[in-house]
Amino acid sequence: MVLGVGWERTLVLVKPDGVQRGLIGEVVVRLERRGLRLAGIKLMRIDGALAERQYAEHVGKPFYAELVGLMTAAPVVAMVWEGPSAVALVRSTMGATDPVAAAPGTIRGDLGLALPANVVHGSDSAERGEVEVGLFFRAEELVDWRGALDGWTGAGGVPPRS
Ligand code: RTP
Ligand code: MG
Repeated sequence: MVLGVGWERTLVLVKPDGVQRGLIGEVVVRLERRGLRLAGIKLMRIDGALAERQYAEHVGKPFYAELVGLMTAAPVVAMVWEGPSAVALVRSTMGATDPVAAAPGTIRGDLGLALPANVVHGSDSAERGEVEVGLFFRAEELVDWRGALDGWTGAGGVPPRS
């Protein structure tokens, strides 16, 4: 898969609390409206081994056991979103980690209540995005396609004259 200049891929999870609360569509629509392109999506369960690889940076922290308990308690929706500055766009759409601190208008600020339940995950760097996409998706599960509106969103090219 060849990404455009400045394009990034990021792994987004609708976490078990978001799935249980019926917020899958809410997350998808907010990312679609930003102009990001969906490259892969699936409903799945995370086992303990995958949770540990996903959250390796947090092993040993006081909230780690509670976090893994949440992530393995029910299915998640795993998605790959791509576009220019996709990592920062997703992070700003999600809002701050703690719903108490997340700004209104963000997913966590509008829909979250208390940690560790904060509805969504998004990769925190482009490098981490590539690693996390590889943890959750096989190459053949990702779709390479062009958005008909890319010229109008700034995602690439010059808009067709109309
Ligand atoms: P994520 O990795 O899930 O996208 O969230 P994040 O980058 O905004 O936050 P991070 O520091 O990576 O924390 C990962 C997840 O652990 C839970 N958490 N609980 N009780 C606590 O103090 C606490 N701190 C973090 C949250 O579910 C957070 O999203
Ligand atoms: Mg994180």
